[in-house]
Amino acid sequence: MTDLELIQTAIEARKRAYAPYSGFFVGAALLAADGRVFTGCNIENAAFTPTNCAERTAFFKAVSEGVRAFEAIAVVGGKGEEPSEFCAPCGVCRQVMAEFCSPDFRVILGNEKNQTVYTLSELLPASFSKSDL
Ligand code: THU
Repeated sequence: MTDLELIQTAIEARKRAYAPYSGFFVGAALLAADGRVFTGCNIENAAFTPTNCAERTAFFKAVSEGVRAFEAIAVVGGKGEEPSEFCAPCGVCRQVMAEFCSPDFRVILGNEKNQTVYTLSELLPASFSKSDL
């Protein structure tokens, strides 16, 4: 699975986003070490706080299916039909990534035309994790 294929899968997942309050639609595609891909979208709520980001939806789907080893995630988000800006994961999602992923886990941001890649350690340096407990 190439980075572009993962982005394309995230674009498809974004079509299922439920974001009536922000109008900001996000899709994610999470590549597991076994080659399976778990998709996610953001799911908002009238009470706001229960809102779940696309990235965490993908992680929670995977972990709830017994999968805990991951290589990369693609994230596509924005307000328009085809977002041109990169959508960086929020701090809560970065912390969830840190629970299950190594520092070299790849976070691919972009759209069909442009992509940029960060490692998890670039996005969440000096993190608090299970090794601290
Ligand atoms: N959101 C995500 O799903 N992922 C991100 O990386 C950033 C933000 C969602 C949460 C909320 O539904 C909307 O985007 C606006 O914050």
